[in-house]
Amino acid sequence: MQEPKTNILTVSKAIGAELSGSGKGDVTDVTHDSRQAREGTLFVAVKGLTMDGHRFVDDVMRRGAAGIISEYDPPPDFEGAWLKIKDARVSLAKAAAVINGDPSQQLDLVGITGTNGKTTTTYLCYALAEAAGVKPAMLTTVEYRIGERSEPAVRTTPEASDTNRFLRRAVDEGCGFAAMEASSQAIDLHRCDWLRFKVSVFTNLTQDHLDYHGTMENYFDAKKKLFDGRLGEAPSSCVINIDDEWGRKLLNELTSKGQRVVTYSQDQTADFGAENIDVSLLRGTTFLLKTPIGDRQISSPLVGRPHVYNMLAATAAAIELGYDLDSIEKGLSVCVGAPGRFERVPNDCGFAVVVDYAHTDDALLNTLKTARDLTEGRIITVFGCGGDRDKTKRVPMGRVAGENSDLAIITSDNPRTEDPMEIIREIENGVKDAGVQYEILSDRREAIFRAIALAKRGDVVIIAGKGHETYQIVGNDKFHFDDREVAQEGLNRVAESV
Ligand SMILES: Nc1ncnc2c1ncn2[C@@H]1O[C@H](COP(=O)(O)OP(=O)(O)OP(=O)(O)O)[C@@H](O)[C@H]1O
Ligand SMILES: [Mg+2]
Repeated sequence: MQEPKTNILTVSKAIGAELSGSGKGDVTDVTHDSRQAREGTLFVAVKGLTMDGHRFVDDVMRRGAAGIISEYDPPPDFEGAWLKIKDARVSLAKAAAVINGDPSQQLDLVGITGTNGKTTTTYLCYALAEAAGVKPAMLTTVEYRIGERSEPAVRTTPEASDTNRFLRRAVDEGCGFAAMEASSQAIDLHRCDWLRFKVSVFTNLTQDHLDYHGTMENYFDAKKKLFDGRLGEAPSSCVINIDDEWGRKLLNELTSKGQRVVTYSQDQTADFGAENIDVSLLRGTTFLLKTPIGDRQISSPLVGRPHVYNMLAATAAAIELGYDLDSIEKGLSVCVGAPGRFERVPNDCGFAVVVDYAHTDDALLNTLKTARDLTEGRIITVFGCGGDRDKTKRVPMGRVAGENSDLAIITSDNPRTEDPMEIIREIENGVKDAGVQYEILSDRREAIFRAIALAKRGDVVIIAGKGHETYQIVGNDKFHFDDREVAQEGLNRVAESV
């Protein structure tokens, strides 16, 4: 069991609770997930839309929980510590910070919000810290990482209790820096309350997630909380993309309150800018980076103008933290971004091989359009659709692949318990509509090998659907399978045969 970190009375005072029952118990942890509750845990009973945490009160107390945090009065027969508060989620966040010794105050925490580019910018910030010799940590959609140690992510922005526990570990293991994605929904659910962000970054705001927030104004307002101090303490610096109209609105609102704001742009005068941008599928992206402390020629493995925005954002955050231009140039030159997001598999064959996570028709269309803009050659697309999942996307994905490729190779994704050929035949209906040349190879390895064997100088092979996944699920079995490794094998075969 963990060492006691604090006690009920301290937590109760910190969250402004009305305490009943014994206030003497030690507290080692806080959670609103009853499965995480152990001896010494404070359990926050949250009344959610579908589940009421109060159902688990007896259960967690039997398992030795230190007490209950709730917006309601204790049941009459309740024995133990009961902390009544106004808002369960806000209290969860505050208690998590107190119990873990406020780790976000003990390193430089960067929070990144926006509709697009959060994950990539987080990876870039991580790389810049590493290049500056600071041990970094990060929380992203793809993975949580402390130094070299990585674990798969559970969600883009974890609960405040998970984040504080994670940051505690990061500080204890010597990290001086952490970057995290802050999704608007997470901010709205108070998952970022009481985290001390040194720098907050705004990438952009476009129509998305309106199912949750209702209007763009609400969506913007949720993101604004990361900047204006409503989460606890305002960040020391705000980094804002002013090519975005909501970014400009944010800039005006923050400057009128006297907050420190640094801006970035590709189109207008800003603190951070980029000139002479050159994008190549084979070579990556080069540009002249303009900063308040000097200019640098940058050569990045990332492909595309949107990533220039992400690099500007990460550079601005790094300079606000005091990192120098040498480290920034070094970090940007090595960072390949988020795994499986338009990730190029390096080769000397004169054609590009790209692994991308796109597994919806929309995402696939974006990826194929990006590739089309950057190549004069053919686009060869290898893709499939998952089994036991949304069947309605099979025909549209087939159509998109057909309409935007020169050759489509239909294969298996994670067939799960469905017959792989059954799924492929559904996709085939969409591909056929487009009238493009296509092949069917249900074995994904063979399909990838085939695409690479057919590629000629100037072509692009897009391997879509699985991105960073390192497995394939066939039936109920999970096999090791990594599109990037298989592509590399395919490339080696080509190299051996010439
Ligand atoms: N700055 C940007 N502006 C516009 N589009 C971008 C930008 N950065 C990345 N993209 C595109 O948006 C998609 C998602 O990128 P990324 O994973 O970095 O963003 P995210 O905000 O973390 O998204 P998610 O909410 O899906 O986790 C990618 O397909 C990428 O090509
Ligand atoms: Mg993300």
